Amino acid sequence: MSRRIVVIGSQWGDEGKGKIADMLTGRARHVVRFQGGHNAGHTLVIDGQTTVLRLIPSGILHAGTTNHIANGVVVSPSALAAERAELEARDVPVADRLRISSECSLILPSHVSLDAARESGARQAALGTTGRGIGPAYEDKVARRGLRVGDLFNPSRLRERLEVALDYHNFVLTQYYQVDAVDYQQTCDDLLAHAEALKPITTDVTNALRGACMAGDSILFEGAQGALLDIDHGTYPFVTSSNTIAGGASTGTGVGPGYIDDVIGVVKAYTTRVGGGPFPTEQDNATGRHLAERGNEFGSVTGRPRRCGWFDAAALRRSAFNNGLSSLGVTKLDVLDKLESIRVCIGYQLDGQRLDFAPAGADVLARCEPIYEDLPGWQSDTSGVRELAELPPNARAYLDRLAELVDTPIDIVSTGADRTDAIVCRDPFG
Ligand code: IMP
Repeated sequence: MSRRIVVIGSQWGDEGKGKIADMLTGRARHVVRFQGGHNAGHTLVIDGQTTVLRLIPSGILHAGTTNHIANGVVVSPSALAAERAELEARDVPVADRLRISSECSLILPSHVSLDAARESGARQAALGTTGRGIGPAYEDKVARRGLRVGDLFNPSRLRERLEVALDYHNFVLTQYYQVDAVDYQQTCDDLLAHAEALKPITTDVTNALRGACMAGDSILFEGAQGALLDIDHGTYPFVTSSNTIAGGASTGTGVGPGYIDDVIGVVKAYTTRVGGGPFPTEQDNATGRHLAERGNEFGSVTGRPRRCGWFDAAALRRSAFNNGLSSLGVTKLDVLDKLESIRVCIGYQLDGQRLDFAPAGADVLARCEPIYEDLPGWQSDTSGVRELAELPPNARAYLDRLAELVDTPIDIVSTGADRTDAIVCRDPFG
């Protein structure tokens, strides 16, 4: 059956979207990244071999899958070249399997310098970004002074536009932040050096996806980061600079919402967050450290330790609505294996009132006190389980309760890092 499915992270990122996307890519003819940049880190483990993808879609390891980087993604040509080289060194035929939109905005070295200057905290409070230049690149896109992938193939236009952009960036860097300027000639030469490799894989991705829709091909739209980091709907200003919710699959690719059949929200069986911002169920204590250790909660891109806490159904209800979730993919259930008792946040207390739906805005969320329900743990090993019936009864009851609290059925439960460590309750591709 031909389906067009969006897979997004429905918490604060790092939910294990890469694993779920990779499991499903065998069924999709096309896999598409639609927002974000190389701030993402999608870890795939296949037959014991780990691959961390940052910008390239998770279908790249599948023969017969075309992978697209669509218009809404911000692209660093040097980061893309490095990721491509890593894959090619392992004989993955990237040029055959990857297409990139000429309309993608470029991340320049000056965007990275601007990100670092802001995060230094000298002029404004640090947000804890990944330092990849993502925010400044999106700012330039919206300000209409950005460069695009297509500009790489028109050297005179590239030089002209780069001069305008760098004039502005260097003014801000040297005068406002009082740090070093970025060299124009070096930037220009470095960018043009990538043109030859990018030209054969650059195309009109929207038109390619239109062709796929007309041909009845299955498409997987692969989100990056998480819905609670969305620029419009997340915990602003502690957010990333793109629309991470499922609607971003339409705006970022040009494939209208009517072409999308289902949205799978990936959730950890608990919650994590990297960087600053409110996190009502955070456990800055022995429980948090237990989850971090068992879940190996360190950023796959930056190596930063992740903050850990209990599952938050109030936040998930907001996310489920923002994304129009059809189903959930629950990951890292096995991380909870040793706990005697597991807490789930079922709502908040705020100014004497009970809330079931996370409130808008970081300041209000920061004042919310979680209301918990305690569920019994299962204290047995669920790693690698592949059948629902093989899960201990308390683990099944835990999953049933999550689905009930979020009012969304569970399609997939991931029980380990490998592609095959999973329970498929319902195959989203039919
Ligand atoms: P930026 O995307 O680098 O601008 O970072 C903005 C915020 O989003 C920071 O709190 C980052 O930690 C967070 N963030 C960005 N990418 C990811 C991701 O892939 N996983 C989790 N958090 C992320």
